Amino acid sequence: MRKPFVAGNWKMHGSKASIESLVDGLNAQAGQIENVDMAVCPPAIYIDFVQSSLTGGKIAVGAQNIAEEPVQGAFTGETSVEMIKDLGCAYVILGHSERRAIYGETDAQVASKVKVALDAGVTPILCVGETLEERESGVMEKVIATQIDAVVDVVGIEAFEKIVIAYEPVWAIGTGKTASPEQAQEVHAFIRGKLAGLNAVVADKVIIQYGGSVKPDNAAELFAQADIDGGLIGGASLNADDFMAICKAAS
Ligand code: G3H
Repeated sequence: MRKPFVAGNWKMHGSKASIESLVDGLNAQAGQIENVDMAVCPPAIYIDFVQSSLTGGKIAVGAQNIAEEPVQGAFTGETSVEMIKDLGCAYVILGHSERRAIYGETDAQVASKVKVALDAGVTPILCVGETLEERESGVMEKVIATQIDAVVDVVGIEAFEKIVIAYEPVWAIGTGKTASPEQAQEVHAFIRGKLAGLNAVVADKVIIQYGGSVKPDNAAELFAQADIDGGLIGGASLNADDFMAICKAAS
């Protein structure tokens, strides 16, 4: 049985004051959640603050990106995997559609970052997903398969035991338009089936989160689907009550 995993992607939101109040809310409620792995991924500059403010050991911390270069060096503005590890990060979100679309990250760069994270012992949360145009023009599965294949080619299928996949339809991110549980399950089953074609044991173990306008009132139905193992939560993870309600729905 796969243990559900819910992670909050805070994106580029927050201040010391707002994060302090958010973490206070998480600390007050996290103890009540059982049988769910939980993490929050703050902006890099606040990782240390969040790590030292969280109590109770129930919520892990992750980063939202790392440099493609595995070691430190003259890479102005970048954050290395060793640096996020040094701050206690267990996870790193890689290949988020915002990084792909806004910063031009390619499948090859995402794959190389996944390898850098794995080599350092940090679990990648590998985001994949299609745009509305890709879905409507019938290339959704091809797009997702290509995003996954790029990573398989670099790290091999066995490594997926240590990779979390987040399926995030781009058209559902921050739009309030959630994929229906059936739509999401269909793609999750496609992803797991694709991995099973390479290694059925690994495919059965891999955690596949759903992300895209998950809220307290739609989380339970999404998480009840056979191949949905939790969620990657954006907007709703900025509110402690909402994030905790979503985590509870996964338990
Ligand atoms: O990483 C999280 C996703 O982009 C989902 O964001 O929950 O605000 O739609 P959202």
